[in-house]
Amino acid sequence: MKKIVVLTGAGISAESGINTFRDANGLWEGHDIMEVASPIGWENNPELVLDFYNKRRRQLLTVTPNKGHEALVKLEDQYDVTVITQNVDDLHERAGSSRIVHLHGELLKVRSQFDQNLILDWKEDLNLGDFCEHNSQLRPHIVWFGEMVPMMDTAITITEQADILMIIGTSMQVYPAAGLLQYTRPQIPVYFVDPNSAIAQSEHLTILPEKATIGVPKVVEELMNY
Ligand code: APR
Repeated sequence: MKKIVVLTGAGISAESGINTFRDANGLWEGHDIMEVASPIGWENNPELVLDFYNKRRRQLLTVTPNKGHEALVKLEDQYDVTVITQNVDDLHERAGSSRIVHLHGELLKVRSQFDQNLILDWKEDLNLGDFCEHNSQLRPHIVWFGEMVPMMDTAITITEQADILMIIGTSMQVYPAAGLLQYTRPQIPVYFVDPNSAIAQSEHLTILPEKATIGVPKVVEELMNY
């Protein structure tokens, strides 16, 4: 089976009702990124950080996957598919994708400050005083600005093996995730679905300047007839 790697960003979940980060109505509006998504922010005001992620978590539980997430699942009939997502939502999981790498963590998980490998499923609000079994405060299982991206090596290895790359709904501004593109073998076909695509046209790149619910099913259909 040919291997397809799908790199997704906030844009694929936009039509499910989750705001993107850098569009006009972006999530960070009203919030200094460093206040709510950095180790310093957490140290200075953990209540604000918890409140921010509690709101995100509550909202996530009210939304559902869209046709973009769903179309990717169909690809698995014919391809070995890995979704590498920058998103912290679980909409790829709920749509039914089998192999998903979360580069920036997961909103429905929390982890111990004492042991970063102690990760728990978490669907409720997370509050100060919620401790792990070692009596250490739990924090959102999110990769904050300035933190290492532990899944990056895995993502690079998978990307190096891709026969086809799809990129969906990402501004390609945040590294190291945006740098994954440079790890593909030369000349593999790359499809980019984004109404405002940010990478330069090149010979092996097909840009679909469309929303995910329109553009992703189109690419999937094309790939199923490949
Ligand atoms: N369908 C497809 N793409 C869309 C749609 C849509 N309906 N709506 C918006 N987009 C595109 C925008 O054109 C933009 O290119 O989604 C992209 C969203 O970009 P960002 O908001 O920058 O999100 P993303 O690239 O995922 O951000 C990367 O930055 O803030 C951090 O950790 C956070 O994972 C996030 C990372």
